[in-house]
Amino acid sequence: MRSTPRARLPQVEIDVESVAFTPGDKATRYRELLPQLQALFEDEDDLVANLANAAAAIKACVAATSWVGFYIMKQYQLVLGPFQGNVACVRIALDRGVCGAAATQRRTIMVQDVSKFPGHIACDGGTKSEIVVPIKRDGQVVAVLDLDSYELAAFDEVDSQGLAPIAELLGKLAW
Ligand code: SME
Repeated sequence: MRSTPRARLPQVEIDVESVAFTPGDKATRYRELLPQLQALFEDEDDLVANLANAAAAIKACVAATSWVGFYIMKQYQLVLGPFQGNVACVRIALDRGVCGAAATQRRTIMVQDVSKFPGHIACDGGTKSEIVVPIKRDGQVVAVLDLDSYELAAFDEVDSQGLAPIAELLGKLAW
């Protein structure tokens, strides 16, 4: 019997990238995030691609987030980079906002209630709390990682400690 000729389809190699987290406490989920980010960055040196995947992976990991993204240091300003969430402010002066404070003070800043933080920039009026972590390359702040939440006091020491090695890993990207 003659078989029906099949259309010749091009052979396309599809890489399925995914992240997964066990339901459970935040510390465990952060521990699971680090090797998954390392795997995502392996064999890829494109900064934008890696930051975009990092934003998506962090958003999937940290349940309380409404927005996760990067502001990249460019000519003494922070400029919006890859993110997950609503559209956001594009440029932040270094003397403005939680992001500017984290970049200039070179330390993680946690804000339990953004309405009480002088100079907070409300890109999304629904944001109630925030954590911003500087990303350093060779000691220089090259960007900040910003996580926002619609819940008050969504972030605590577990987030700060969980994000520290993530920021260190991000600092090794091709800035
Ligand atoms: N709230 C930040 C600005 C960035 S948005 O939250 C995405 C700040 O005060 O720096």
